[in-house]
Amino acid sequence: MRIAISTGGGDAPGLNAVIRAIVLSAHTRGWQTYGIRRGYGGLLGDDGVMTLTPDRVRGITHLGGTILGTTNRGNPFRWAVTDPSGTQREVDRSDELVSAFNASGFEALITIGGDGSLRIGYDLFRKGMPVVGVPKTIDNDVVGTLASFGFDTAVGTATEAIDKLHSTTESHERVMVVELMGRDAGWIALHSGIAATADVILLPEIPFDIDKVCAKIMAREQAGRRFSIVVVGEGARPQGGDASLIERRSAGTVDRLGGVGSLVARAIGERTGKETRSLVLGHLQRGGSPTTFDRLLGLRFGAAAVRAVADGAFGVMIGYNPPHLTRVPLEEVIGRSKHVPLDSDTVLTARELGISLGD
Ligand code: F6P
Repeated sequence: MRIAISTGGGDAPGLNAVIRAIVLSAHTRGWQTYGIRRGYGGLLGDDGVMTLTPDRVRGITHLGGTILGTTNRGNPFRWAVTDPSGTQREVDRSDELVSAFNASGFEALITIGGDGSLRIGYDLFRKGMPVVGVPKTIDNDVVGTLASFGFDTAVGTATEAIDKLHSTTESHERVMVVELMGRDAGWIALHSGIAATADVILLPEIPFDIDKVCAKIMAREQAGRRFSIVVVGEGARPQGGDASLIERRSAGTVDRLGGVGSLVARAIGERTGKETRSLVLGHLQRGGSPTTFDRLLGLRFGAAAVRAVADGAFGVMIGYNPPHLTRVPLEEVIGRSKHVPLDSDTVLTARELGISLGD
C-alpha cells in the first residue's frame, strides 16, 4: 500500500504530529507513505513528492508548521494561472492531478485540511480517488468533530497574549482591543476571552452594538475599573453591518478578513474619550509548538486515518467525538461551518460572569 499525504490550506500546530502518526502506523503495516509538497502542487509539477520514512519523521511531533509546506492558493479545481498579459484566471487541473496520483502508484490519499481542503478532498473522492480526511484548523469551525488540532494551541497563545496586555492596559488606564482569528466562527475569541478575563468579547455569531460596548466600558470606569480589554473575533460585525475585509481574493481562494479591531478601537475612543489602542494577534495564533492536547489529537487522528485506509473506508473524515474517533462522511462536512451555539454553556458562562457580548 502506498499512501499519499496532502496538507494544503492554512497550517495549524499539530500537523506534523498527524504526519508522523500516519507514517509510523503505515510503516507498522509494511506500507509506504509519501508527502505531496505544497498542498497538491507536488503532483502538478511544483517541487514533487517526498518519501516519508520513519527516519524522516523523527522528532517532529512538537514542531509547528508542516514539513511538507503548504499553500492556500492550490485548489486543483480552480488553479490560478497568470496570462502573459498579466491577467489572472482559473483552470481546472483535477484530471491532471488524478492521473499523476495514479501514475505514482498511490492507493490512498489522506488529506489534512480545513473546510476548503476537505471540499477539494471530497471532489477528488467523487472523481474516484480513495480519500480519507483529517480536520485541520485553529478556528475549530469544521463540523463533524468536537475539536480540530491546533485550536487548543491557538487559544493558549491568545490567552497568554491577553494576560500580558492586562498589566500594561491597567497601568495606563487604557482600553485595549485585541483582534483574534477564527473567520466566521468565534471559538478562539470566546474561549481565550473568558479564560483571560476580557471585559467585552465580540463574536461573528453575535452582531454587536457599539453603544452597548461603550456602556460596559463606562460602567467599569464609574466603578473605578479605569481600563478595559475588548476581544474581537476577526469576523465580528456591527448590527446591520458587514465583516471587515482586508482583501477580496478571486483566483481559487477565500477573502482575507481583518481590520475590525481597529474600527472598534476608533469607535470606542471617539465615543468614550478614553485612550484606546488595538492589536492584531494574527499568525502568532497559527505558530509554535502544539500543546499536549493537540499533539495527542494529531497523533490519534493520523493513526485513525491509516486504520480507515486499512478498512477501505474512503470518502470520510476522522472526527473527534469523545470518547471515540468516528468516521464522518465527507459530504456531511463540506460546505458547512461549526459556529458557536448561542445557547451553549460557554456563552452563558460569559454572560453570567458579566462579560459583555456587545448585544
Ligand atoms: O482558517 C484559519 C485562519 O487562521 C483564519 O482564522 C484566518 O482568517 C486565515 O486562516 C488567515 O489565513 P492566511 O493569512 O494564511 O490567508
